[in-house]
Amino acid sequence: MTLDPARLLVVGAGLMGAGIAQVAAQAGHDVLLFDARAGAAQAAHAQLAQSLHGLAAKGKLTTEVAAATLSRIRPVAALQPADLVIEAIVEDADAKRALFAELEALLPPEAVIATNTSSISVTALARGLRHPERLVGLHFFNPVPVMKLVEVVWGLATSPDVAHAVTDLASRWGKTAVHARSTPGFIVNRIARPFYAEALALLQDHAAMPEVIDACLRAAGFRMGPCELMDLIGHDTNLAVTKSVFEANFYDRRFTPSLVQQELVDAGYLGRKSGRGFYRYPDGAPTLPT
Ligand code: NAI
Repeated sequence: MTLDPARLLVVGAGLMGAGIAQVAAQAGHDVLLFDARAGAAQAAHAQLAQSLHGLAAKGKLTTEVAAATLSRIRPVAALQPADLVIEAIVEDADAKRALFAELEALLPPEAVIATNTSSISVTALARGLRHPERLVGLHFFNPVPVMKLVEVVWGLATSPDVAHAVTDLASRWGKTAVHARSTPGFIVNRIARPFYAEALALLQDHAAMPEVIDACLRAAGFRMGPCELMDLIGHDTNLAVTKSVFEANFYDRRFTPSLVQQELVDAGYLGRKSGRGFYRYPDGAPTLPT
């Protein structure tokens, strides 16, 4: 099976959905972009226009490529039939299941549904679908246009044809696709949990400030420190992923969510996307009292 979607629908126009739409459009696909929040898909399009024009001004891509990419992305006000749907909505199993039920009423039986979930079981998400074999994990990393890796996640019911077809598509989009079975957190997010958890534990112990922790890890060779990385990911999403991995591992203490992060989420300090997390944006100044 070759996946060359004439109609590609991206659902969820947040950090990830917008990035996925950009990469797909840059690869030549016409992309419909839908978000349940009124105006969010248009806002994502405007944001993409700003960043693509910025890249063109810096000479990182031509103005023609920037214009063509934007012209291929169309914000839509309702779900639409498509050959491939890439779901990038909130990291919540019930919300994703409800969306898939709505989609199945619209989609032809051979259409593929790919979920960008960071951690939720693809096996469990497929349960209840009329065609569970068409659901596959297609886990991009943030920022999508920059990060090469994509995890193709197989649920128990995922058709091998579907998994191989999305792998091939991701490769044509310039990504490096790896296969993972649907275990909690898959590969990267499982390994990354202790990275975030230990940084959050240091903060809870008042052992060091976020900027010190980040500086140490950068000096040790990591591209970003854990605090700035959590700000980039979004604390709501990062906490939801930790909770999902914790629950899926039968509440193994190794994956215990952090009260420090819970408090940031409770305050609405979600990171870059809300203008404040461990740092303030756009200037990046620390926010926690010293
Ligand atoms: P986000 O919070 O930036 O965007 C989520 C968007 O989904 C919002 O615009 C929201 O209005 C929309 N939405 C919520 N429910 C919806 C529904 N039922 N129908 C349509 N739109 C709906 O979140 P982000 O960061 O883009 O994450 C999306 C997905 O991607 C999550 O599953 C997350 O775990 C995953 N992911 C996130 C990464 C990150 O670094 N933030 C990295 C890799 C995967």
